Amino acid sequence: MAHNRRDFVKKMAAAGSAFSLNSLFNVTHAADFAVANQRVQHLSPLEVATDETYWSTIQQGYTASSSSIIILNNGGVSPSPLVVQQAVERYNQMVNQGPSYYMWRILDQGREPVREKLALLAGTLPDEIAINRNATEALNTVIYGLDLAKGDEVIGTLQDYPNIIQAWRQRAQREGIVYKQLSFNFPIEDDEQIVREYEKAITPRTKIIHVTHVINWVGQIMPVQKICQMAKKHGIEVVVDGAHSFGLLDFKIPDLGCDYFGTSLHKFLSAPVGTGMLWIKKEKIAKIWPLLCNSQPKSDDIRKFETLGTRSFPIEQGIGEAINFHNAIGGKRKEERVRFLKNYWAEKVLKFPGVKLSTSLKSQFSCGICGVSIDGMTPGEVEGKLMAKYKINTSPTVWENISCVRVTPHVYTTRAELDKLVKAIGEIAADKKKS
Ligand SMILES: Cc1ncc(COP(=O)(O)O)c(C=O)c1O
Repeated sequence: MAHNRRDFVKKMAAAGSAFSLNSLFNVTHAADFAVANQRVQHLSPLEVATDETYWSTIQQGYTASSSSIIILNNGGVSPSPLVVQQAVERYNQMVNQGPSYYMWRILDQGREPVREKLALLAGTLPDEIAINRNATEALNTVIYGLDLAKGDEVIGTLQDYPNIIQAWRQRAQREGIVYKQLSFNFPIEDDEQIVREYEKAITPRTKIIHVTHVINWVGQIMPVQKICQMAKKHGIEVVVDGAHSFGLLDFKIPDLGCDYFGTSLHKFLSAPVGTGMLWIKKEKIAKIWPLLCNSQPKSDDIRKFETLGTRSFPIEQGIGEAINFHNAIGGKRKEERVRFLKNYWAEKVLKFPGVKLSTSLKSQFSCGICGVSIDGMTPGEVEGKLMAKYKINTSPTVWENISCVRVTPHVYTTRAELDKLVKAIGEIAADKKKS
């Protein structure tokens, strides 16, 4: 199996990638991009992270960069580059020539190539990838597809994503499985402490550990690989929520050592809104029941999870173009740039009185997401001021033991925008201190 996977990855890597050249803008942009790429080719991803000339070429690929509002909630959902938007529009026009023919006969043939591209990006076999609409759907497929008996135990945390917590709680309520939730006080700069907490909660009835790869509220990177190694020793399977890691952190899914991985593609990959992916280790596919029923529910064909009914083929096909754009930058370069942008603003606001961060600034523990708070103000108040006075879009977060404003830049974010954020936070903090 591992050998097949390696062969596939090698073969596909040789194929390379480029933008689709379907408009004058794209032709010009691709040429600019090639020059920019050539100029930084000899530099490490860390060095390129601070090269504004290079990143300005990337920024031009996004229409969001000309938005009058500064968008710093890319953790919620990210915009697509123009090439992706145009691809979806093209496919949509084609579909509307006659949906039943162009969707089911023509565009449907693009699904396997998209699966192959996703597999190459994820470092998996195509036959381990199901394409769906978002992380909620991917993870519910696993959560409801697992055979668990009354009394079987699942370990998660209070800081996991609400849709996922609800899914496990519903199984507990309906079938009597035991859903235990740990609680972490983030930021934590000690992987072993996190692994120990999960391990302490294990009993002979524990069947599943559910881990959020990057905690959406504050951006903590969880030590998934170490948790999986520990779980394996106990014969426990691991489900990973990769909503905020896939397309941002530079990793291959099999290297995590998990059994199941669900993600949205409309966050850091910048694929069209309404795209997601489920990965299941080949030998585990057969035992997972599809959420949306299929005629062969116990088949080991990953496609059994794609009986979604009629859905948007143009959106699904747009994934391919988003992967082209992502690959043209390169995974590690993107990760380092977004981390650099987070540190750029976060280190500066720490000097203001009453301003606190909910996120570690060490690269091992965070990348793009960072939580910030101002003493004496609720997250809603800070977020409201950022929007009303400075036209900066962020996300107020109050959840369990977490209270902060979540700020998430993306590759199209400029330093100038972050300078405005820093100034805004400084002014809001100073006003609060005066009041
Ligand atoms: C950690 C995490 N998991 C799952 C989801 C669900 O993603 P979606 O709404 O795309 O299904 C989110 C959404 O923000 C998330 O942050």
